[in-house]
Amino acid sequence: MLDRVKEIYQEIEHFQIQSKDELEQFRLRYIGRKGVVTDLFEKLKQVPQEDRRAVGQELNSLKDFAQQRFKESSTSLENSFSEDVQPPVDLSLPVIPNLYGAQHPLNLVRQQIISIFGRIGFSVADGPEIETDWYNFGALNFPDNHPARDMQDTFFVDKKSNGAPADLLLRTHTSNVQIRLMEHQKFNTTFQPIRAIMPGRVYRNEAISARAHCMFHQVEGLYVDKNVGFKDLKDTLYHFVKEMFAKDVKIRFRPSYFPFTEPSAEIDISCQICHGSGCPICKYSGWVEIAGSGMVDPNVLINCGVDPEEYTGYAFGMGVERITQLRYGVNDLRLYTENDVRFLRQFQGA
Ligand code: PHE
Repeated sequence: MLDRVKEIYQEIEHFQIQSKDELEQFRLRYIGRKGVVTDLFEKLKQVPQEDRRAVGQELNSLKDFAQQRFKESSTSLENSFSEDVQPPVDLSLPVIPNLYGAQHPLNLVRQQIISIFGRIGFSVADGPEIETDWYNFGALNFPDNHPARDMQDTFFVDKKSNGAPADLLLRTHTSNVQIRLMEHQKFNTTFQPIRAIMPGRVYRNEAISARAHCMFHQVEGLYVDKNVGFKDLKDTLYHFVKEMFAKDVKIRFRPSYFPFTEPSAEIDISCQICHGSGCPICKYSGWVEIAGSGMVDPNVLINCGVDPEEYTGYAFGMGVERITQLRYGVNDLRLYTENDVRFLRQFQGA
């Protein structure tokens, strides 16, 4: 009998209890009323009278031992219960990558433009989007009856009581910053050469379509100093175009007209979408217009208090949307403002 007790001690000690099932099996076998320990108590009657007391004590401590083991195992299982119900971890699954954002393509290209001009000494200047007629038109040598002032083109902020357009408007180009920069010279004791680009948002009253928007972005450039000539303008824009697009890009200057520059030229580059074979973007001509430019009209210099006998300057202005279209093949202006993540994600890491 005592040998059997010893055996059961060993069994209890080595019984594996790692789940609720195993705990239940343990209970049935060593604690339950049909278990082995109860069975031994039954057999106590057969033990000779003189040994019964000692064996009885042994059995009692065996029973205690079994109960002790049961209690310990059930509390430790209880504590690890929450881990039990977690789904199993599959270490062979592929990693879920961190989702990271992308720069908006217009911002990306704006930064590229700033960086290219920054490397050749242009700083960045800014100005208001709500502007007066003078800074947007008057100082830029627009005649009073110029069609650009027309309600069809310009968003006026308010109307005068007699129905005429008010003085405040949403700027139609970033040229207002040219005026503000030059006008600022009056605060300098001597003339400080100006070499700046002016990125910003502009507004025109156009119906929204794939090719036109009422809000878009320009980067304007201005260089005013002694002896600035048309060759400087050409050199700078050649450099920009080659940095921005392929080294073999072709560029041409086409005579044009702007009230604030004289002479004026529009700048075309060889189509970066079809490379000359003809496509809707270049209207099958192989050339795409990217900027307007020219030598600052002496009237504009005078309007800003700069002496045109002593100083000359050039200016240029380009549309950021157009540059982005040619650089990344974006063919619908509306994509820029729709916030479709499928479009925006394509610029991750660009
Ligand atoms: N302001 C002109 C436009 O919006 C662009 C331009 C800027 C042209 C500077 C010449 C010089 O079209």
